[in-house]
Amino acid sequence: MPNIVLVGGQWGDEGKGKIIDLLTDRVDFVVRSQGGANAGHTVRIGDEEFVLHLIPSGILRESTTCVIGNGVVIEPQTLFEEIDHLEKRGIVIDGRLRISEAAHVILPYHKVLDVEREKFKGSERIGTTGRGISPAYRDKVGYSGIRTIDLINPDVFRRKLHMNLVEKNLILTKVYGVEALDEDEIYEEYIEYGKRMKKYICRTSKILNEAVAVGKKILCEGAQGTLLDVDFGTYPYVTASSTTAGGACTGTGIGPSHIDTVLGVMKAYTTRVGSGPFPTEFAPEVDFVDRKRDREFGATTGRKRRCGWFDCVIVGHSVRVNGIDTVALTKLDVLDKCEKIRICVAYEYNGERITEFPFDMSAFEKCVPIYEDMEGWMRETTDIAKYDGLPVQARTYIERLSELIHTPIDIISVGSKRSQTIFVKELFR
Ligand code: GDP
Ligand code: IMO
Ligand code: MG
Repeated sequence: MPNIVLVGGQWGDEGKGKIIDLLTDRVDFVVRSQGGANAGHTVRIGDEEFVLHLIPSGILRESTTCVIGNGVVIEPQTLFEEIDHLEKRGIVIDGRLRISEAAHVILPYHKVLDVEREKFKGSERIGTTGRGISPAYRDKVGYSGIRTIDLINPDVFRRKLHMNLVEKNLILTKVYGVEALDEDEIYEEYIEYGKRMKKYICRTSKILNEAVAVGKKILCEGAQGTLLDVDFGTYPYVTASSTTAGGACTGTGIGPSHIDTVLGVMKAYTTRVGSGPFPTEFAPEVDFVDRKRDREFGATTGRKRRCGWFDCVIVGHSVRVNGIDTVALTKLDVLDKCEKIRICVAYEYNGERITEFPFDMSAFEKCVPIYEDMEGWMRETTDIAKYDGLPVQARTYIERLSELIHTPIDIISVGSKRSQTIFVKELFR
């Protein structure tokens, strides 16, 4: 039985939450390894919908233990709001949630710095979620972060907070011209968070490795997507963490030798929120996606998602840098009404055909997609439960994508419900 790393294969919001929820009946642990409350993972169970930002999507099935790993940056307010909200809806959290002692905490100055830096950048802004993600990771690698273990030790927390605020307040007032933050106020608020968080905090890397040793099954829940990875994404239009499969190891303490399968989740088209080049983005006159019906509003910020055709150049890169073995293709049903469907197979750049995207964003911006056109199926697919039941044009589309990205597509999603899923191959049983 494999331990699985699930990653987003595009720019996030691929429908990871739905696929994670589906697979949680096959695993013992669901673990978040990176990112923070910038994530918004939607799970639909019957008529109920849950949006998870920090707590792993596995929390919705009683049999799983959920872990927030060391690679995550935790915003305590969101964490407790999420816990309270889930508990109100009858989900048991206590005894089922573990938080790494080494995970870093997001403080109020991280959020202010995130927002002010975006304003400062003007037209060069990244379009962040404003959750303080990049400033928190900046402090982590700058040796001045505050971890959950620090939060539950009042003396250590006071000392670290003071050190940070002396510096941060100078930046806030002198560089950005905004008000300084009050140390006592933050201390009082966060020390209470620490008290409440204490029961969840532990050495999660040890728990996970003990589980691996006795054959328990682990699913690592990736947040964001490969093209937002700080190393392999469309830098600087990325997020601050390692969203690729390798990040699941450093963000949990599970060694690469224990990872058996990398599952990539991709939409049957492409979306992106925030700034940055997007070669296959629809021109307004051909944009057929109904943002409301097709749920293409950001689950965290409510922003309208940018939409475009499936891009094999970026997905090919994604397959390679993650070592993706198998793909879950989501939201096929959104294409039901398309007469013609386009697949981007390469770009034209400077009069040449290229099959790798340039890491130089000024060049990437100038790339023009080269398309292969496919016939649409013009039929509803939302009730189809078996691969052979799909219209022949839909099967041709899926098989062509699989061929172009050199990877089997083993799960197909045709709606947001658990039941609206086609397992081409039975996985992980
Ligand atoms: P995530 O961040 O990757 O978990 O994705 P989001 O939850 O942010 O966005 C995906 C949206 O599409 C959610 O509203 C899901 O309920 C919805 N969704 C997931 N799979 C499908 C599908 O196959 N078809 C349709 N129509 N909606 C889907
Ligand atoms: P899930 O897990 C889509 C994007 C932001 C912005 C960039 C940097 O739901 O797929 P940040 O706040 O992280 O510093 O913003 O990354 N972004 C996401 N886009 N889905 C997400 O998460 C995202 N998390 C961050 O829009 O472009
Ligand atoms: Mg999302």
